[in-house]
Amino acid sequence: MNPLAVQLNRLSLANPILVASGTFGYAKEMTAFVDFKQLGGIVPKTVTPQPRAGNPPPRTVETASGLLNSIGLDNDGFDQFMADKLPYLAGLGTSVIVNIAAKTCDEFKRMADVLNAAKGVAAVELNISCPNVSGGVDFATNPDLAADVVRTVCSAGDLPVIAKLTPNVTSVIPIAQAVADAGADAVSLINTFQGMAIDWKKRQPVLGNVLGGLSGPAIKPLALRIVWQVAQAVKIPIIGVGGIQCLDDVMEFIVAGASAVQIGTANFYNPGLANSLVTELLQVVQEQQVASFTELIGTLKIPVRD
Ligand code: FUM
Repeated sequence: MNPLAVQLNRLSLANPILVASGTFGYAKEMTAFVDFKQLGGIVPKTVTPQPRAGNPPPRTVETASGLLNSIGLDNDGFDQFMADKLPYLAGLGTSVIVNIAAKTCDEFKRMADVLNAAKGVAAVELNISCPNVSGGVDFATNPDLAADVVRTVCSAGDLPVIAKLTPNVTSVIPIAQAVADAGADAVSLINTFQGMAIDWKKRQPVLGNVLGGLSGPAIKPLALRIVWQVAQAVKIPIIGVGGIQCLDDVMEFIVAGASAVQIGTANFYNPGLANSLVTELLQVVQEQQVASFTELIGTLKIPVRD
């Protein structure tokens, strides 16, 4: 038995350590640094129906313990992805979770149809939460819209469906409940927090797009809070994302209720991190004397006070 194997409804993973969309390119860039076969899975950069040039520069700025980005879903488009990127990704010996974004349910459906017929795709992650695009529908800020996308993509075939949700709402719980009811296999919690950087001497925003999405260690406590809250409210598995940079971070997400995690911003400064975390998680399983790490999921104890 593999003590790191995990089942996210229809998605089977060899281990719970994934790399997050937008932080790992399309994997080729990471060849020199990462043993792909050891990863639980790769989530490549979001793909949209048509190519997108993305937002004007500057697109990134480092903040205290974080990274603010406004890439704007820069990508070569779905057809190019299927022709040039998926064949490479599919040969890497790990699960490939294709991340897609679109402006309408029909566009989501067209891509989902093709992905369902393709070889080498383990699951589809729906980016319904990018904070950096204008003129589209902010699906994950509305339970009904989020559910519509999930229902539509689920109707395309048997591929497992993961909804990546935004923290930029009053509560993620109703959105998570809606996508779970619509058939999502899992939710990724969370995408970036909308933020801003200012050069006060110039009286100007730093980012070309003015606003951006904050990721990195600065957001870990916020992500943990949301994972824990949603874990109390929904039954589908949670993939925790937000500021993970060491094994203790991974374990905090797992005891809070995550069944898997995604490593994001840390890939930029430590691309080998996800590999090390797999090895270290195996050691934790032995130290904790459990047969599988899954025994540790959601084991957080809240002290009862008189
Ligand atoms: O701007 C971007 O491409 C970011 C995407 C995301 O956060 O989903």
